[in-house]
Amino acid sequence: MNAKAQGSAESYVFGRVVQLAVVAALGGFLFGFDTSVINGAVDAMQGAWDTSSLLTGFMVSSALLGCMAGAAMAGGISAKMGRVKVMLMASVLFAVSALGSGLAFGPADMIIWRVVGGLGVGAASVIAPAYIAEISPASVRGRLGSLQQLAIVTGIFAALLSDAALAAAAGGAAEQLWLGLPTWRWMFMAEVVPAVIYGILALTIPESPRYLVQQGREDEANRVLSEIFIEGVALRIQEIRKTVDTQRKPRLSDVLNPKRTNLLPIVWIGIVLSVFQQFVGINVIFYYSTTLWKSVGFDESDALTISVITSVTNIVVTLLAIALIDRIGRRLLLMIGSTGMTVALGVMTLAFSLGINPAAEAVELLPGWDTAALIAANAFVVFFGMSWGPGVWVLLGEIFNNQIRAFALGIAAAAQWLANFVISTSFPSMADVGLWFAYGFYTVAALASLLFVLKFVRETAGRELEDME
Ligand code: GLC
Repeated sequence: MNAKAQGSAESYVFGRVVQLAVVAALGGFLFGFDTSVINGAVDAMQGAWDTSSLLTGFMVSSALLGCMAGAAMAGGISAKMGRVKVMLMASVLFAVSALGSGLAFGPADMIIWRVVGGLGVGAASVIAPAYIAEISPASVRGRLGSLQQLAIVTGIFAALLSDAALAAAAGGAAEQLWLGLPTWRWMFMAEVVPAVIYGILALTIPESPRYLVQQGREDEANRVLSEIFIEGVALRIQEIRKTVDTQRKPRLSDVLNPKRTNLLPIVWIGIVLSVFQQFVGINVIFYYSTTLWKSVGFDESDALTISVITSVTNIVVTLLAIALIDRIGRRLLLMIGSTGMTVALGVMTLAFSLGINPAAEAVELLPGWDTAALIAANAFVVFFGMSWGPGVWVLLGEIFNNQIRAFALGIAAAAQWLANFVISTSFPSMADVGLWFAYGFYTVAALASLLFVLKFVRETAGRELEDME
């Protein structure tokens, strides 16, 4: 099927482009699956090994440190060995970590396997946006890039369902035996299936044409671009060649300011976008949902239902982002998202400062405030999911020029994983001060993200990667 984009001379093979983007986006599915599969297993795991809360917390959060390292390394490896090789490595890391975690002897090797999986998540988080941006026609690059976020949130949802299904098969609890092993072990091992599928499919896609030109492999780049574009392939190759140094491979020093040794301003923009995406606190909603929902009157047994609702909401609003991102642009989408998140988080902050029931032992909201907080929490997920969730990954794939993309994206994504680690490990202590304090902090971050976009982010929709100087 051929498609012709509106208002430009870009005609491309729609089916092929979508196919390539979907395979790369599968890395996002594993990213989502791997980061949330532990939710269903953690209590049983803690029970089995009798670990302290601190150690249990570290078994969960250590994966994020692996993600950080994986993201930082993937940039360099993909600049040297290509994008597809990194996908293959990530798929092996996912499979090994799934088996290792499922068969772990105790907390020590569990932490190692979680870090190994984190390396895969970090690598996948860098390579999906890079590859998708590099194979996409400019007019649909935002939509195709948003497929990664769609895959991430689908992966989060799939892990939730897979954990629940396995627990149900074992009679309702993760510590019960199923086929001879405690069910929580099967929860981890289930990830082998998507990991292997990702690896096999990655073998069927060609290397990124931008990477190939950079490596001086123009014949191959020509072949790949001819599969994607119906015309103008030679011109595209010429344009790409102008933006890369084919005499030497990209290096870390390319992302530094030539006159000084600090990072280029555009790399800082990528880092700050990443940090804001985490500092608004989205993952607190995903990682600590029970704390929140209990305070608005639900009990533990409703937690699964509510997590399902949040996950589905997140999937649906990503579709909204896909519909909008190339039409109204990244900038406006982020601005709408920041504004909505600021209001929603502001309401949560008010609810947890003015609306607390003084008579209750645990944190509990007064009638009226509980409804307001429930609506606000969901509105927050909606505004995040239609804007900063997909938007930041899309921008990270496209704001850097061809020469620095791999390294710069690796650095920005590593910063994002570090920010994720900081926010998720600091939440329990912030919540001890008061939930108003945690949500107040996220509100300020959301407001600051709006100001940052207004001042520093330029529109990239519809522009060629070769024009991103
Ligand atoms: C984005 C974030 C990720 C988060 C997800 C939730 O992909 O990068 O940390 O879990 O959105 O929707």
